[in-house]
Amino acid sequence: MSDDAKGGSSAPETEESTRRYYETSDVDAFYDAVWGGEDIHIGIYAHEQEGIAEASHRTVQRAGDRIADLLGPGATVLDLGSGYGGSARVLAERFGCRVVALDLSEEHNRRHREANAGRGLDGLIEVVTGSLNHLPYEAERFDVVWSLEVLCHVTDRDGALDEAVRVLKPGGALIFSDIMAAEDTPPQALRPALARLGVQSLATRSFYLKSLSRLGLQADFDDHSAHLATHYARLDEEVRRRSAELRRVISPAYVDDLLANLPLWTDLTRRQQLRWGLFHARRTGY
Ligand SMILES: C[S@@+](CC[C@H](N)C(=O)[O-])C[C@H]1O[C@@H](n2cnc3c(N)ncnc32)[C@H](O)[C@@H]1O
Repeated sequence: MSDDAKGGSSAPETEESTRRYYETSDVDAFYDAVWGGEDIHIGIYAHEQEGIAEASHRTVQRAGDRIADLLGPGATVLDLGSGYGGSARVLAERFGCRVVALDLSEEHNRRHREANAGRGLDGLIEVVTGSLNHLPYEAERFDVVWSLEVLCHVTDRDGALDEAVRVLKPGGALIFSDIMAAEDTPPQALRPALARLGVQSLATRSFYLKSLSRLGLQADFDDHSAHLATHYARLDEEVRRRSAELRRVISPAYVDDLLANLPLWTDLTRRQQLRWGLFHARRTGY
C-alpha cells in the first residue's frame, strides 16, 4: 500500500480518535444543523445554490440507481459507517430490502435507531455497533456492500476492502464514495485541512482501482469531483451566513475553527488537489 493510502496510527487508535471526533457534541451539532440530520457526505448538486441536504440526498439516489438491479424485498445491504442512517432509510423505503447498518459511534447508532422507529423502518434496518475492519458476518452474506464517505477515516483501507468483498455474494456489488487526493497532490498539502477531521491521509482513485482489481472485481468510477468544490463552497457559505445562529448550538470556538478550516478545503478543490466520486464494483458470479 502507498504511504498516501496508509496513515501512521494503528487501526484501534484511529478508530478511537474517529469515535471521539464524531461523538464530540460540537461536531455532532455541526453535522446535524448543516446537513439536516439524515446524511453526512458530499452532495451531488443540481445547481450551485442548492441546499446541502437536498444535494446529499441526491448522492444516495444516484448510488442507489447503480445497484437497483440487485435490490428488492429478498435482498440485504450492508451499510458500512452508516452514520445517522439516511442511506439505510432510503434503501429500505425505495427497494423494500433489508439493511444491516454498522457504525463505530454508539451516539450515531442511537439517533439512527430512533429515526428508524419514527419512520416504521426498524423491522427492515438492523443497526449494529462495530468496526468495518472486523465484520462479524459469514462470507458471501450480502447482495450489496455500501459505504459513503467512511474510508477516509480508515488506516487499513486494503483490509477494509478485503472484508467488504469477503461478505459480498458472488454477483453482488460494492458501492462506495470517498474524498481522495489527486494523484499528484503532495500529502503535506492536505495536512492543514485534514487536521480538523483527525484524518491522516487520503487515498487516491488509482489506489482504489488497483485494490479492487487485486480483489478480482470489475470496477468503474463516476468522477463527481466538480461537486466536491460546490459542496465545500456551500458549507463555507452556510456556516458564514448562519454563524450567529450556529454559535447558539455549537461552541463559538468550534464555529471559529470551521470558519478557518473550510476555506482550506475550498482552496484545495479550486486547485484540483482533491477528487471525489462513486466507485461501483461487481464481484463476478461463479
Ligand atoms: C462522514 S460520516 C458518513 C456517514 C454515512 N455513511 C453518511 O453517508 O451519512 C462517517 C461515519 O463513518 C463512521 N466510521 C468511521 N470509521 C469507521 C470504522 N472503522 N468502522 C465503522 N464505522 C466507521 C463514523 O462513526 C461516521 O458515522
